Amino acid sequence: MTELQEQAAAALPPEVRAYVDGGAGEEHTLRANRDSFSRQILRPRALAGLTSVDLSTTILGTRVDVPFFVCPMAYQASVHSDGELATARAAAGAGALAIFSTLSSASLEAIAGASGAGPRWFQLYLQPEMEENRALLQRAQEAGYSAIVLTVDLPILGIRDAQLHHGFALDASPPLGNGAAVLSPQRAAEFTAGGFRLRADAAHGWEVLGELRQHTNLPLVVKGVLTGEDAKAAVDHGARAVIVSNHGGRQLDHAPASLEALPEVAAAVGHRAEVYLDSGVRRGADIIAALALGARAVGVGRPVLWALAVGGESGVREYLAMLREELAVTFALMGRSGPGDTDGSALGSLRRGDPGP
Ligand code: FNR
Ligand code: LAC
Repeated sequence: MTELQEQAAAALPPEVRAYVDGGAGEEHTLRANRDSFSRQILRPRALAGLTSVDLSTTILGTRVDVPFFVCPMAYQASVHSDGELATARAAAGAGALAIFSTLSSASLEAIAGASGAGPRWFQLYLQPEMEENRALLQRAQEAGYSAIVLTVDLPILGIRDAQLHHGFALDASPPLGNGAAVLSPQRAAEFTAGGFRLRADAAHGWEVLGELRQHTNLPLVVKGVLTGEDAKAAVDHGARAVIVSNHGGRQLDHAPASLEALPEVAAAVGHRAEVYLDSGVRRGADIIAALALGARAVGVGRPVLWALAVGGESGVREYLAMLREELAVTFALMGRSGPGDTDGSALGSLRRGDPGP
């Protein structure tokens, strides 16, 4: 456990902590996410003629100051009373992209107000009626969100033992911001651990991407892809980017670590779409490993909630600044000038006699 996670644990009621930190099943995938990063070997370049490090990049054409973004995470008011508004202000201040969940505690319009000129995307959990999805997409577009992230790895909530044990109940947590239609008590139950509640999402095929595209001009990003086949299907159906993610180990236990799935997805997508990754990213070195294996940007999840729990907006600001600095230092130690100067040769291999590419 890191210091930040420990501080958050002390600040949060046990059931909220179980909801935030827990993974599915025996948490094999949750652990695999960290293990996959800890196995990476970085190959530094000495005397590389480095005069500066520039962390900026573009994500779907939008300029961002750092190649990491804030993942969509539900119910942020359960962690801190300022919830998503604090996260939005802090991310905008850091010049980082932030993605906000359908299940946000604040409305997407209020979040947009807090994020101001900051780059923001809206994450969609499909609602059973297409008209409800259309209305959400329209609201997001009007509120200045510049892409729609469709999460596809939650046909049903994963079995999260800790959450079940502590009985974190969303119906009992602060109300959600995006309207009664989005989350009637009945639908909220779909996101509460326990019981077999297949969501309407599960009934769709990839054609649903085409339907959604009829209702928005915003680019569509598909989150929760772990195989080359699914990545190809997403792009064939019009996704402009995919996020390689196992939902932070919260859904299918024994799913691969995102980092392990990344090369397969990057190869399947090629230059047809952008590829990002989340799940287990904690340090500057993790970000460089993911970029080296084909990600254009990476998402950070739980650490942002830990920072929010500990210090609200300033906590998240400090965390993002710390990650930024660590990434810059790591690039400098690598003899590389930033995301644009990172390829497969940045990574080594543990196999004897195979020092790297
Ligand atoms: C999530 N995640 C998530 N994903 C999504 O698409 N919509 C959502 O509403 C949520 N909600 C949510 C709540 C909480 C408490 C957590 C921890 C995560 C998943 C999230 O976007 C991301 O995929 C993972 O959190 C990334 O893994 P790490 O960085 O937390 O290890
Ligand atoms: C979760 C859902 C809400 O991971 O995305 O808890």
